[in-house]
Amino acid sequence: RRLTTEAPTAGNRVADVAFAFDIDGVLIRGGKGLTEGTKTLRYLQEHKIPFILLTNGGGMHETTRAERLSKLLQISLKEVDFCQSHTPFKNLKDKYKHILVLGGSDDSVRKTAEMYGFPSVINELDVIAKRGSPFWPFTSFTESDLKKARDFDLNQPIEAVFTYVDPVRFGLDLQLVMEMAQSKNGILGTISETNEEGPDIYFSNADLVWPNEYPLPRLGQGAFASCCEKIYNELTGKQMKFTKYGKPHKVTYDYATNILEAKRKALSIPNFPKEIFMVGDNPESDIRGANDYGWTSILVRTGIFQGADNSPKYPAKHVAKNVWEGMRWALSRHM
Ligand code: G3P
Ligand code: MG
Repeated sequence: RRLTTEAPTAGNRVADVAFAFDIDGVLIRGGKGLTEGTKTLRYLQEHKIPFILLTNGGGMHETTRAERLSKLLQISLKEVDFCQSHTPFKNLKDKYKHILVLGGSDDSVRKTAEMYGFPSVINELDVIAKRGSPFWPFTSFTESDLKKARDFDLNQPIEAVFTYVDPVRFGLDLQLVMEMAQSKNGILGTISETNEEGPDIYFSNADLVWPNEYPLPRLGQGAFASCCEKIYNELTGKQMKFTKYGKPHKVTYDYATNILEAKRKALSIPNFPKEIFMVGDNPESDIRGANDYGWTSILVRTGIFQGADNSPKYPAKHVAKNVWEGMRWALSRHM
């Protein structure tokens, strides 16, 4: 059967499969939608094939991400279509009473954490407003910035530190992670003798690099995490304890699988997918994660990966020019 973009008749599903798509470098590049991305998602929506957009990006709530990507791709997407790097943090909302969130340039990371249900959330600005500029003298904050800060109780332990998205104030965020990791029970301005009393530390995204309009990949949150690890080790002689979310980590694929399963039920599809495909541009995260999880990996050449053949380190099951070609290959295995 040929792939057409016409909608099938009721009940005429083309294949019992499901898809996970990376966003940056697959569906969009540098803030612009890729036409093959639009074509692919429209095709899957019309043919009622479940998919999820599984990105290591983030920094905003899934509802906002859905609005933005719908505009970019000229297609209707909803909150449930997304698993961003920090989306699985939702499952931790009842574990911690008071948390510090890092990353991004405005209040949207805090708002996202609150929308996930975390009861008390502070951010970088709140700490600077409370402790004063000597906490980190290398970044200037305006009066109007500081007016946006929220007061908090310095004696309430910060139970976890979450990096939600690539830090904009890299140095300040490094200082915060180092202070928290060495603190006594997550109290600012304290230092533990054992260095083992600090809060739980999470990074949402392990990508060392990511693609935008610049000809070479740019440093990402993974680079921030590596700096944290290295500096902590130099300061204490110990290994920093932390948890990483996002691709290629299993926790993220588990979360995405649950969303795909919910979508299958919502679409009244009786059978489990015979095959789940992950289409990505980054061998280290998308392809490695999919291979480890037992999904069928498809590597495209519209983002990070530009090689002629396949990734030597994390080879994909299939390499395609773009996402549409990747989807055609996937469906051809079942038609
Ligand atoms: O790591 C940064 C982020 O932009 C990657 O997004 O969609 O390629 O996983 P994505
Ligand atoms: Mg990507």
